[in-house]
Amino acid sequence: MIKAKSKLLSLYIHWPYCESKCPYCDFNSHVNEAFDPKQWIKCYTNQLFEMREQLLNHNVNLNNLNAIFFGGGTPSLMPLEIIDSILRTASNLFGFAENVEISLEANPSSYEKDKFYDLKEIGINRLSIGVQSLNNTNLKLLGRLHNTEDAQVAVEHANKTFNNISVDLIYAFHGQKIIDWTNELKTFLRKNNLQHISLYQLTIEEGTKFFTNYKKGLFNIIDNDKAADFYEISNEILNDQNFIKYEISNHAKRGFQCKHNLNYWNSQNWMGIGPGAYGRLWSSKSNNRVEYQNFKNPKTWLSKNIYKSEFEKTNFFNNATSDIDTLTMGLRLSEGIETSKLYDESIIKSDAFKKLEEEKIITIKDGILKVSENNMIKLNSIIDLLINS
Ligand SMILES: C[S@@+](CC[C@H](N)C(=O)[O-])C[C@H]1O[C@@H](n2cnc3c(N)ncnc32)[C@H](O)[C@@H]1O
Ligand code: SF4
Repeated sequence: MIKAKSKLLSLYIHWPYCESKCPYCDFNSHVNEAFDPKQWIKCYTNQLFEMREQLLNHNVNLNNLNAIFFGGGTPSLMPLEIIDSILRTASNLFGFAENVEISLEANPSSYEKDKFYDLKEIGINRLSIGVQSLNNTNLKLLGRLHNTEDAQVAVEHANKTFNNISVDLIYAFHGQKIIDWTNELKTFLRKNNLQHISLYQLTIEEGTKFFTNYKKGLFNIIDNDKAADFYEISNEILNDQNFIKYEISNHAKRGFQCKHNLNYWNSQNWMGIGPGAYGRLWSSKSNNRVEYQNFKNPKTWLSKNIYKSEFEKTNFFNNATSDIDTLTMGLRLSEGIETSKLYDESIIKSDAFKKLEEEKIITIKDGILKVSENNMIKLNSIIDLLINS
């Protein structure tokens, strides 16, 4: 199958520590504990060597990396020597494409003044700043350690150092007024020169403090209609400021779409190293997609990778699982998905397809399937209807 041959290749590195645990967050993040940087370097290095072996075993093209993403947790807390070592080893083992995008997530409360500059010096060329909210009441509600002033200083500081800055914001909480949010967003955009924005509606994830409070009736969520209003108006504001919405929650100025995340949504090849990280490759040998899952607990991950690299699980997708994944990821993109990417297009149920097409919820043209703009907010239920009805 030619599918496997022409894929891009990127690398995700997970750093699992944060200064504190936010009450909404179900990422693999743990409050800081003592660690030995040398041990971490050894484990990340072993994983990079192992991934190279896996690529060779599966006859995956050893393309230069087009993107690298340090995510977390809070990777702005990572000692520079660890980041530097990972980048050097990755460059030796895989090579970097000419315009490789190297992103790192930074938290406004957890960087020292010169850290952005140092990060740039060792190769980071895109910073994703977790501003999260544009007013202090909501920052407190979200359990964040920074205030709006800290966030503004971090963004201004980043602007002096990087040409590619993204900001994460969470919105659409119970009690938030649309007028307040839109004013905050407009003011923030006027003040700052950003290339990318990720806007996430607050979700209540199982296992979080918000979830416990929600179950006890101490925390409310907004209703779907209101969430849709928040979504629509936010998209309009960003569109007016020349941001192109290229994915359900992501907006970029022309040419600044996040390359690493596009690799996920376009079902390319990526490697994932670090606690809980996962990677997926198209194997040319078995014609299947292979997924590598790392041990989630940082201590377990360290113990399993210090002498040689070991994954918690390796999954071989069958064609149907691959297709569901390709479709689910691809429909998140505003430009939609080429249905020829699927092994078997009959994964899409024809009755549901016809109905959704008649209702103009989805469109198909020249082999490209899309969810219409104003229905993106219902993406999960649309995918469910397409695959399961
Ligand atoms: C791994 S976290 C970000 C990294 C960094 N530690 C920070 O918090 O700034 C990725 C992003 O997911 C978003 N996020 C996490 N949990 C969320 C939730 N329950 N609802 C909405 N957005 C969420 C936040 O905007 C966050 O910046
Ligand atoms: S949102 Fe960011 S800072 Fe907060 S716990 Fe999650 S990863 Fe850590």
